[in-house]
Amino acid sequence: MTLLELQNFSCGYGEMIAVRDLSVAVEPGRILALLGPNGAGKTSTILAIMGHVQIKSGSLSVAGNDITRTAALRRVEMGLALVPEGRRLFSDLTVAENLTVGGYSHSRADEKRNLAKVFELFPRLFERRTQLAASLSGGEQQMLAIGRALMSQPKLLLVDELSLGLMPKMVDLCIGALQKLNREEGLAIVLVEQNTARALDVAHQVCVLASGRSVFTGSAESARRDVDLLHSYTGVAA
Ligand SMILES: Nc1ncnc2c1ncn2[C@@H]1O[C@H](COP(=O)(O)OP(=O)(O)OP(=O)(O)O)[C@@H](O)[C@H]1O
Ligand SMILES: [Mg+2]
Repeated sequence: MTLLELQNFSCGYGEMIAVRDLSVAVEPGRILALLGPNGAGKTSTILAIMGHVQIKSGSLSVAGNDITRTAALRRVEMGLALVPEGRRLFSDLTVAENLTVGGYSHSRADEKRNLAKVFELFPRLFERRTQLAASLSGGEQQMLAIGRALMSQPKLLLVDELSLGLMPKMVDLCIGALQKLNREEGLAIVLVEQNTARALDVAHQVCVLASGRSVFTGSAESARRDVDLLHSYTGVAA
């Protein structure tokens, strides 16, 4: 069954429509790259999926359940989690506190298990567990933002601009961790990326937005076959 489905989906802010008539689906265990130039509506789309931006029309469903009007917290309980643009960590809390206080676990036992899993995925976070989030490097902060989202044991992880401002080595480390979770645990991912090439490396499906509308949806394979066309859509020089 389709994990996430947007049908004729529009979202926006007050009178302003940021994304119009978007239809796209994510199958279980798949990675969707959501691409497009600045202001295309990528962040608005994933914030609306999480329940933080208003859906204006159309529908949104998770595993066949319509969640168009479902509260944000309930969406987390249903298996959606967000790694937000800019990471949004609690800078004066420690690494461990960001994971336990900032994350969402169903129970204490889950929390313990989830914490151990995050530390296993990112040993650097374990080494720095008592350090304040503000004192981490950019790459470590991104690991922490991913780790915090994983605390709710999501089925679908929405990741906004993971690579922004990070050294290529750190991007590889973070994307490598996501790919591992995808391969080994079947975690589905929506990856919003400026780095088209890096996103195409790991994605199974691609959706390109421009000015709030979908201009391309298809397999990553078909997108890779015509990278020049894709670059013309995303505004990246080929
Ligand atoms: N809080 C807001 N209030 C009003 N308009 C907003 C708000 N946030 C975003 N917008 C508008 O919605 C449109 C889409 O913005 P969005 O942030 O979703 O784009 P994006 O594709 O994520 O861009 P970027 O690559 O720069 O992150 C833009 O025109 C933007 O100005
Ligand atoms: Mg954005």
